[in-house]
Amino acid sequence: MINIKDYFNANREAVNIYIEGLLKNIDQYPNDLHDSMSYSLMAGGKRLRPILVIASAETVGGVRENVLPFAAAIEMIHTYTLIHDDLPAIDDDELRRGKPTCHKEFSEATAILAGDALLTYAFEVMSNLSLMPNCSPDNVIKALNEVAKRVGVSGTIGGQMADILYEGVGGTIPLLEYIHTHKTGEMILASVLAGGILSGATDEELAALSAYAKNIGLAFQIVDDILDVEGDSKVMGKNTGIDAKNNKLTYPGLLGIAESRHIASHLIDTGIKSLAIFGERGEVLKDTAEYIIARSF
Ligand code: IPE
Ligand code: IPE
Ligand code: MG
Ligand code: MG
Ligand code: MG
Repeated sequence: MINIKDYFNANREAVNIYIEGLLKNIDQYPNDLHDSMSYSLMAGGKRLRPILVIASAETVGGVRENVLPFAAAIEMIHTYTLIHDDLPAIDDDELRRGKPTCHKEFSEATAILAGDALLTYAFEVMSNLSLMPNCSPDNVIKALNEVAKRVGVSGTIGGQMADILYEGVGGTIPLLEYIHTHKTGEMILASVLAGGILSGATDEELAALSAYAKNIGLAFQIVDDILDVEGDSKVMGKNTGIDAKNNKLTYPGLLGIAESRHIASHLIDTGIKSLAIFGERGEVLKDTAEYIIARSF
């Protein structure tokens, strides 16, 4: 039996070391750009998405070393979305990962550019075959395509746009589901698929991973909405009550806390059932799904 906390800690550490190496490999000038990228990336963070890349790889027989470039790159993309999400024009947030948000610590212009630079660097890393000598180039391109597709207009950014458009407007459950699966779910799906693809997963394995990721991805954002209402800001390292302040369309706002928790819990159960084909090898992904609903930050 794997202790999931130990697993998370060990992999978070490996990802952090790899990211630090990547940050050393780029121009340190202009200082503010490098410092702001590093500030937001290294401020903490659960590293859930890179852990999902690694856990999915290992579930289908792959090894961590081979997928670290994608794990780190997806964390850079995630961090850029957080920097931009916090901007005054989007969620107007002042606390992230226990520290002042990037635009508060540096400037709005610097935060925009730090986000741009993290996004582009992530693609430089994912397309650098020399960092992945043990992966087939075909699989690298396939994984890259999945990530690109899922963090852009058909995924994260489409979701973020709708999230803003419906502030104060209200909406239906299908619309809310669109927002949450896109702004958050698609990057989680990209993480799981990238780990599988780079490790040579079969179509059947990828279908199972995909069903798992879709369910836990939506659940993750529902829990984020719940924590925005009843979480502890000190524990989370970010402010609470931001969704209400911005009149966001959220699960608790539309359905209440109890029903939101019920839906999230059902999604987690469904996600776990999708892991059946992996037998005991699915244990880490199962424990990760359980962590997503139980988490307090
Ligand atoms: C926050 O993501 C943004 C959402 C998609 C809800 P995380 O809760 O994974 O934030 P970090 O990476 O741990 O800071
Ligand atoms: C953020 O959703 C989703 C993305 C950054 C793409 P939220 O706006 O709810 O995330 P938090 O609560 O600020 O972390
Ligand atoms: Mg937001
Ligand atoms: Mg936000
Ligand atoms: Mg939130």
